[in-house]
Amino acid sequence: MSFLGFARKKPALDLSYSVINEDHTHLIQLAAELRCTALKGVGDTPTAQAEKQAQVEDLVYRLIADSIEHFSREEVLMQAYNYPGYRLHRQEHEQLSRKATAYYNDLTEGRIAITEDLANFYRRWLHDHIRSHDKDLERFLFGRRS
Ligand SMILES: [Fe+2]
Ligand SMILES: [Fe+2]
Repeated sequence: MSFLGFARKKPALDLSYSVINEDHTHLIQLAAELRCTALKGVGDTPTAQAEKQAQVEDLVYRLIADSIEHFSREEVLMQAYNYPGYRLHRQEHEQLSRKATAYYNDLTEGRIAITEDLANFYRRWLHDHIRSHDKDLERFLFGRRS
């Protein structure tokens, strides 16, 4: 799949809250950038390999940090409006954060090699999560407004 194909956000993932929506677009693009970098052939020299390793580690770090920031934005909204699905939704966020952080630790401590697996997993997770949990939250918030 091309970078654009991987990064394209389906219309079904669009939500009405623009800040949340922009976060989703950004995270999907970061996952696409991570996949591209992970798959990039850079040659066998130790310098090129070290540069690629550093780039991948940086992208995984940013993906995790920006996801955590995004999750807390959603969680503040949920708490402010007493969202009944708050605990379950937060659990989903926490599980992803834990899994991605464990991956980051394995990567930076040399226990695993670079592959596109995390990017693929992240993209799937984002699509599934936005379509279900985030859509439910949107319906709840907009239901209250009308
Ligand atoms: Fe969410
Ligand atoms: Fe979200």
